[in-house]
Amino acid sequence: MTSEVAACDSVVYLNGEFVPTASAMVSVDDRGFLFADACYEVTLVVHGRCIALDRHLARLQGGLDELRIEFDATALRPVHDELIQRNHLDGEPTASVYVQVTRGVAPRSHSFPVGAVPTVLMRAQAIPSLAGAASNGARAITVEDIRWGRVDVKTTGLLPNVLAQQAAIDAGADDVILHRGGLVTEGSHTNVFAVFGHTLVTAPTDHRILAGVTRGVVLELARRDGVPVEERVWTVDELASAEEVLMTSTTAGVRPIVAVDGRVVGDGMRGPVTAQLQASYAAFLKSDGD
Ligand code: PDD
Repeated sequence: MTSEVAACDSVVYLNGEFVPTASAMVSVDDRGFLFADACYEVTLVVHGRCIALDRHLARLQGGLDELRIEFDATALRPVHDELIQRNHLDGEPTASVYVQVTRGVAPRSHSFPVGAVPTVLMRAQAIPSLAGAASNGARAITVEDIRWGRVDVKTTGLLPNVLAQQAAIDAGADDVILHRGGLVTEGSHTNVFAVFGHTLVTAPTDHRILAGVTRGVVLELARRDGVPVEERVWTVDELASAEEVLMTSTTAGVRPIVAVDGRVVGDGMRGPVTAQLQASYAAFLKSDGD
């Protein structure tokens, strides 16, 4: 079945039921819509198999707990499999599942409503292969990170990310490297790394970045492969002396950045550390991918 046919017939999971996408309805009083009072996840599916699902569900649970939205994310584990099957995505090389859990429906009021039941939406769709995104070296621009102070929580409040990503597109670039007063944080929807000498450097996991699942896997693979790793604060100024720059995310895998603010990185090609991490990550996806 082609993705187009699947899109017409597609079903989403909404509050315990599988319903045709075209007729799925969420209330105008939903707090996800009104306040971005919600957490989300995006999980990669390779030939019908969810990659690192436990890590995604654990991050979702952590975010919901932070926001005090009472919901057991582990209940969504079997729903992933059923959603993939019902959308005929088990035959697709790559797909993704989007999960959103909001605080629920209630008359608009800033404080937490009493008795609201969380809204749960899950959607699955085929996506382009990671190999395509990974082989194309991307051009990035640097943009001041104006997000709130708890971006470690994966909420749907993504307007600064949207504006930053659009600034990159408007500048003729592909992606963005965010910084707070010159300290590199992450991308609009990726984590950012650089290679100095032979050492892989990325920002530490604190409230200023999202602890990307792909970031975590790539750091584990790098350490296993003997690549020196430093999780430390680093700066936009240092980017000028980076041999390699790369980004990671669920939907793009490991992607080389070949230019930053119009300046070529290294020799303008994917570097050896990036190539090694891509190979290791591809093998990880083929193995158990947990
Ligand atoms: N975004 N940083 C931000 C701000 C992100 O939104 C994401 C993922 C990442 C990478 O995390 P992971 O490796 O777990 O995908 C880092 C998803 C893909 C999105 O919003 O579509």
